Amino acid sequence: MLNTTTGELVLGIVGTGLMGRGIAQISAQAGIDVWLFDARSGAAEEAHAAVAATLDTLAAKGKLDTAAVAAAVARLHVADALADLAGCRIVIEAIVENLDAKRDLFRQLEDVVADDCILATNTSSLPVTNIAAACRLPGRVGGFHFFSPVPLMKVVEVIDSVLGEPWIGDALSGLARRIGHRPVRASDTPGFIVNHAGRGYLTESLRVLGEGITQPADLDRIMRGAGFRMGPCELLDLTGLDVSHPVMESIYGQYYQEPRYRPSPITRQRLAAGLLGRKSGRGFYIYLDGKALPVPEEAIPPAGPTPVWVSRRDPARRDQVLALIKACDARLDDGETPGADSVCIVLPLGHDATTAALAEGLDARRTVAVDPLGLARHITLMSTPVTLPAFRDTARAALGHAGLPLTTIHDSPGFVAQRVLAMIVNIGCDIAQQRIATPDDIDGAVTLGLGYPKGPLAFGDALGAQTVLDILDALHGFYRDPRYRPSPWLIRRARLGVSLLTPEN
Ligand SMILES: NC(=O)c1ccc[n+]([C@@H]2O[C@H](COP(=O)([O-])OP(=O)(O)OC[C@H]3O[C@@H](n4cnc5c(N)ncnc54)[C@H](O)[C@@H]3O)[C@@H](O)[C@H]2O)c1
Repeated sequence: MLNTTTGELVLGIVGTGLMGRGIAQISAQAGIDVWLFDARSGAAEEAHAAVAATLDTLAAKGKLDTAAVAAAVARLHVADALADLAGCRIVIEAIVENLDAKRDLFRQLEDVVADDCILATNTSSLPVTNIAAACRLPGRVGGFHFFSPVPLMKVVEVIDSVLGEPWIGDALSGLARRIGHRPVRASDTPGFIVNHAGRGYLTESLRVLGEGITQPADLDRIMRGAGFRMGPCELLDLTGLDVSHPVMESIYGQYYQEPRYRPSPITRQRLAAGLLGRKSGRGFYIYLDGKALPVPEEAIPPAGPTPVWVSRRDPARRDQVLALIKACDARLDDGETPGADSVCIVLPLGHDATTAALAEGLDARRTVAVDPLGLARHITLMSTPVTLPAFRDTARAALGHAGLPLTTIHDSPGFVAQRVLAMIVNIGCDIAQQRIATPDDIDGAVTLGLGYPKGPLAFGDALGAQTVLDILDALHGFYRDPRYRPSPWLIRRARLGVSLLTPEN
């Protein structure tokens, strides 16, 4: 229904807390009339005042002009009763995350609004279909999942319920564009796109911790070195385990124990212990005055006389390692095979140092593996269980004085970054395979919603689909865990040699 005097869209927002206010702000700024309703008396007025204050602050910073602020504030109206939303063409609910409460609200709204009014839910974890199923006209219900803070997170997931009519998603996508957000369209599945795709980074990182491969601060350093703004443990500390652990359990349960999404006992136990993260002052890090106490980096020993031999199996990556050795003034063993006293450097993809040493017929006590991916930003070294400390230190000295951060980890197939990236790509591929969203929307949702430097499919293309497949096959073979089985989407595109962003014809 249109505003009868202006012919403009009228939007209703029910639930005027954190999310409702953000949606109201950007809608009013986009020239839309907004009616605010909240069940708690006085809450809608508070929201009105809070949005006006936010707009004033933006004006004071010179980001908005005062006329635009006045116009936006004039478009915000407080509804005293749900019945005041009768003239709305779209109503977005952002009330408490409870299925019964949302179903009740939508049933009440249907008695108030016109039959062609769209009812949208901002739920982040409930099935939109289950909300729609409670309605007299379930086809008009859609998901409209914003991220916090709404004005800054420029993406919204538009969810098509099983009962939804396609024009609902089209209309919500149009509204998203009008308010300056990118709509990404997804079918109604657990975690939609963003919370589904985010499983790879967190659960694989926790698995790495659970296996004793490295410590939280080193894990974070390695993943920042791979281009992520925040390491997984920093991210978990920021979100709080009270929020993120239940999401991990919920998605795992909703997908009937799909091993790719298997949560970790680490976070369950830490949640029980109250180690929530920043909000409790202690998580993976300890916080003082809101700042994490620094965890010292490993000290690099000075270069010694022991020569360093580098595997010749991958000439291009060998050259990169040789350049680092040169920059560190270390002694090189340039023989076809390693001399009797040399450290042996191997460069495995998807394999651990032990497997690589045995495959090349090297002495495992003298072998150290270097992650051949991402050598330009971060050096990760990995020893076999029997690598002698003196040889490990020689390798650290031979590579650790080139001005790049260096981290030493225990044996792991796919080091840390390789396996975490491979899981991100694989889960992104499976989201595409399940037709939850288009490849383009998957990558758009992840870059905007999670702040990753690339979407999962573009990450896969950058690494090479065949390389990702090789890493996953190696992980799968080593652990014999179906968690690492590659998605059909990845297998086919790797075989065909085409981009992972290639949709079905
Ligand atoms: N906070 C986030 O980061 C985030 C992100 C995406 C989605 N969401 C979803 O958005 C919704 C709202 O989250 P929020 O963080 O803004 O919550 P909030 O607690 O800040 O605000 C909820 C508001 O809804 C009101 N309310 C509760 N029940 C109501 C009812 N039956 N009718 C009318 N008003 C009612 C409350 O009084 C409150 O003002 C939830 O479904 C949540 O899962 C939240």
